[in-house]
Amino acid sequence: MVPLHKTDAAIIDAKGVTYSLEVASRPLRILNSVSLRVAPAEVVAIVGPSGSGKTSLLMLLAGLERATSGQVVVRHQDLGQLSEDDLARFRRKSLGIVFQSFHLIPSLTALDNVALALEIAAPELAMPTIRQRAAEALAAVGLAERLDHRPSALSGGEQQRVGLARAMVANPPLLLADEPTGNLDQTTGALVVELMFDLARQNRTAVVLITHDPALAQRADRVFTMTAGELAETTPVR
Ligand SMILES: Nc1ncnc2c1ncn2[C@@H]1O[C@H](COP(=O)(O)OP(=O)(O)O)[C@@H](O)[C@H]1O
Ligand SMILES: [Mg+2]
Repeated sequence: MVPLHKTDAAIIDAKGVTYSLEVASRPLRILNSVSLRVAPAEVVAIVGPSGSGKTSLLMLLAGLERATSGQVVVRHQDLGQLSEDDLARFRRKSLGIVFQSFHLIPSLTALDNVALALEIAAPELAMPTIRQRAAEALAAVGLAERLDHRPSALSGGEQQRVGLARAMVANPPLLLADEPTGNLDQTTGALVVELMFDLARQNRTAVVLITHDPALAQRADRVFTMTAGELAETTPVR
């Protein structure tokens, strides 16, 4: 853990991040000197062609992969310096993650999917409190009437709203979303992103949203474009 200077308020401070993989025993550079600073409660979007490295960057920000060089600092913790256990703790306490394919547990109801996430993030809470907060998180995404539904009895948009409730239930300071609308039609996807941004702004959650949809990206505070492993800010002039 490398504490930054007190005045440094960034929730994400990635500097000169390079990420290479060995493919057929030759190094393949996926990310090339990527830097990204995100302030607390800031909402940023990342667009860019398929294969440009967007998901790889998200994996590094989540501490699910390690940078080859450079620094990934999230909440003043240098992820490269953390042990696997510390990284797991960091994810539980600091992150919500939303995936393209919703990754709900099929045998559990919506309520139990969300409650399980909170139980893992905050095992000190009593079960009635956990279930109460899970129900509130589902109500916040408009699913108060769907608590007892299993994922198979929910539409795609509803499943992703459960995914969003699960990501937000422990009130993380940072939400990472990798093409959360990729399996939804455009209208449903736009509604889910709108909901995500509303919740994030209410709770002062910083968001990094990866999306293919430039119209959705423009709803963020700032926009970045990934091109062949290089990240540049491309916030439109408003
Ligand atoms: N495990 C892996 N092995 C080999 N190549 C990979 C692996 N993961 C990602 N890549 C390559 O890294 C590049 C970036 O992938 P990714 O981060 O998934 O891009 P995006 O999310 O922008 O589509 C792609 O060329 C992809 O083929
Ligand atoms: Mg991707």
